Amino acid sequence: MRVSTLLSMAALALTSLTASSQAPAASQVALTPPMGWNSWNYFAGRVDDKGIRAAADQLVATGMKDAGYVYVNIDDTWEGERDANGVLHANAKFPDMKALADYVHSKGLKIGIYSSPGSKTCGGYAGSLGHEEQDAQLYASWGIDYLKYDMCSFIGDVLEKQAPNDKAAQMRLMIAAYAKMDKALKATGRPIVFSFCQYGWDAVWEWGPSVGANLWRTTGDVTAEWDRIYAIVSQQEGLEAYAGPGHWNDPDMLEVGNGKLTLAENRSHFTLWAMLAAPLLAGNDLPNMKPEIKAILTNRDVIGIDQDSLGKQGARIYSDGEVEVWTRHLAGGALAIAVIDVGDARYSTHPFHLNLSKLGLTGTQTGKDLWTGKAVELTNNMPLELLSHDVLLVRVDSPR
Ligand code: GLA
Repeated sequence: MRVSTLLSMAALALTSLTASSQAPAASQVALTPPMGWNSWNYFAGRVDDKGIRAAADQLVATGMKDAGYVYVNIDDTWEGERDANGVLHANAKFPDMKALADYVHSKGLKIGIYSSPGSKTCGGYAGSLGHEEQDAQLYASWGIDYLKYDMCSFIGDVLEKQAPNDKAAQMRLMIAAYAKMDKALKATGRPIVFSFCQYGWDAVWEWGPSVGANLWRTTGDVTAEWDRIYAIVSQQEGLEAYAGPGHWNDPDMLEVGNGKLTLAENRSHFTLWAMLAAPLLAGNDLPNMKPEIKAILTNRDVIGIDQDSLGKQGARIYSDGEVEVWTRHLAGGALAIAVIDVGDARYSTHPFHLNLSKLGLTGTQTGKDLWTGKAVELTNNMPLELLSHDVLLVRVDSPR
């Protein structure tokens, strides 16, 4: 081999080394499930600049930021019109998006935004169809750190028009639309968490990560009702294989503190999201949050289960009547065990009995009850009295 060839090969190797060390590492975002707050579940169309600033202030004041909630995500209804150059402007509710992003960043937080691969968002506002690169550049120029990309009118605009009655072709079009935005986001050079919102269509967990998904919705929308929350939980079975650092199943945002959910239901909802390694995006009215709701959302032990560095999603191991037993394997060999009364039965009159051998455990297990903070011993066949929709969550550091 000639010296000049060797030299140019060395130069090439050096260039690619430099390029790869400078490239924004996509896998560096969402190494654990994203945590933060999103405007939709409580404020929906009433979100505005003032509300986003207030949410950022409250994340700091309540200690939620210190507990790990960093993303402040603006959902639908921020979008205004495109100008003659196709540049999208925010509507009157958001007079200066860059200033808002600077404000959120000044609090040590990150900011997220929302769009659609269709021409319209689900709320009927401007989507990104045909403006993907332009929008990605716009987000980056504002300092956006997270994008939720929601199918909405893409179904009618593209899928049903270009491939009527051809589900396979529709799937290819959808994947291409997400891949297009992924490319546009990566081209900005800014690390931006990419959240897919297409309701779990076409087994998104199988192909989402290959086109940049850091998280993907697995179902339709959550509501602040136990039955809906539980229906979503029931649809997560089998998806645990697809979650891991950088790419997560998203059973939708939290409803903790919303609607008429009881404290037991709020605890169970939060516990299940932690067992599922789900993104923890609070969706409640932060300035008016009750202390008992703050206590749930900031329970560091439960957050520790969600954010466990191993990134292994938990699963339901068995159920006995209306009581379910879930486990999640954690870093260092630890195990989280959740026992949940998902029904309305009165198990206090005929307690459920815990079967440790079904969990692969032998003999007494010593752990911590993460909702009382107290040490607890789990013995085989022990009776557990659980009120309707309530949960026992135990962390066992050295399971046997
Ligand atoms: C869809 C999404 C919701 C929310 C709304 C906004 O329904 O699934 O999470 O973003 O659109 O219009």
